[in-house]
Amino acid sequence: MDRLLIRGGRRIEGSVQIRGAKNAALPQIAAALLGSGRLELTNVPEVTDVDTMLALMQEFGVVATRGTGRTLVLDASGARSAQAPYDMVRRMRAGILVLAPLLARFGSARVSMPGGCAIGARPIDLHLKALDALGAEVNIESGYINARVKEGGLRGGRVVLSSPSIGATETALMAATLARGETEILNAARDPEVSDLVLTLAAMGARIAGEGTHRILVQGVEALHNARHDLITDRIEAGTYAIAAAITGGHLEILGAHLEHLGSVGAILESAGVQIWPSDRGLMVVRSGPLQGIDITTEPYPGFPTDLQAQFMALMTIALGASVVRETIYESRFMHVPELNRLGANIALQGSTALVRGVEKLHGAEVMATDLRASVSLVLAALVAEGETTVHRIYHLDRGYEALDRKLVQCGADIQRVAG
Ligand code: EPZ
Repeated sequence: MDRLLIRGGRRIEGSVQIRGAKNAALPQIAAALLGSGRLELTNVPEVTDVDTMLALMQEFGVVATRGTGRTLVLDASGARSAQAPYDMVRRMRAGILVLAPLLARFGSARVSMPGGCAIGARPIDLHLKALDALGAEVNIESGYINARVKEGGLRGGRVVLSSPSIGATETALMAATLARGETEILNAARDPEVSDLVLTLAAMGARIAGEGTHRILVQGVEALHNARHDLITDRIEAGTYAIAAAITGGHLEILGAHLEHLGSVGAILESAGVQIWPSDRGLMVVRSGPLQGIDITTEPYPGFPTDLQAQFMALMTIALGASVVRETIYESRFMHVPELNRLGANIALQGSTALVRGVEKLHGAEVMATDLRASVSLVLAALVAEGETTVHRIYHLDRGYEALDRKLVQCGADIQRVAG
């Protein structure tokens, strides 16, 4: 298993190009099953979660062709319903996103329950309730979801989400596009990736209004057709590089980033002593003065994203004073805490709250990645730790960050990737 050797103390400077959002690519790849033609996506990131999703789509006869410049063509003309097997859905929870398109296109679907993961149980009850509200019969036996449409196919209905789940909103959206009549989705997730999925579905011929708000209306249509869409850029990748510049006291232009996609993150970084503002090509981030400890609570968009919690915590480990980090989206997204403490951080956990007391300096050590965002928080801390840090199991990183080590080296970091 590859590992990274990082020598701390170098500022992150210059510019970095961010790519298409992983969490926009995954549902849109699944959405290709809704059409019987070609869906062409551009700015698709080269990350292993996308590879896993494409392997899953092959199970249904979708032909995926990667072209130059991160173009991906998905041909669903020969698609057929099949089973989404446990070993694939277990590896990547987003595999559950094929359930709705399979059901809407073929009238039935058999998809493995996704396993839990390092950050929590990851239930899918809201996905199943949404499909039930649109006229599907769903039962679970021996770890598989068996879903079929009732007589007459999917019909429009009212989907009320008890929490603004991103995945459940995407499941309801995709099923509703081909349901007979109107669907109202209440308490929908407002994230940019959900709005980007709506743009692609609309390009395929779907009739949707209200994306970006808590109430989305869908008028079902008979069929969806060929389309082409350029993915939005990855706001979590952008936030990660912003924190890389902030933690090292550097200055960085993040090309392709949009401040508005970061929701409250910009204001919170400003309060911590970081300067961040829009530039012609994206975002500028500079930190020259001291870092202040700032409290954060993760919330649904546009609140502070849970996917930047671990990265922000790394920043707070060397801030003046203390910072309270409350995680409200997942029940256990603190796997990075013991590893950050191995680097000399002073973090105490109390249920879903972490108290981070700023320290003078971090010191290099051997640490282990456990999940995608925890692993990148270790890399960020290592950039500023004295001496050498080894980050093990960095396959977690490669799931959601394209060439992170190479990009950081291009911005001045001292990082070596060691295979094996
Ligand atoms: C999406 O996951 C993202 N993944 C996650 O990013 C992100 O952390 C998460 O949204 C929250 O923002 C993709 O978009 C592929 P949720 P998703 O449904 O859709 C509970 C990363 O690092 N819940 O919004 O699975 C759930 O347990 C990944 O890129 C239910 O209870 O997240 C969690 O506590 C990690 N029942 C909360 O809602 C359900 O049916 C938010 O989950 C569904 C979710």
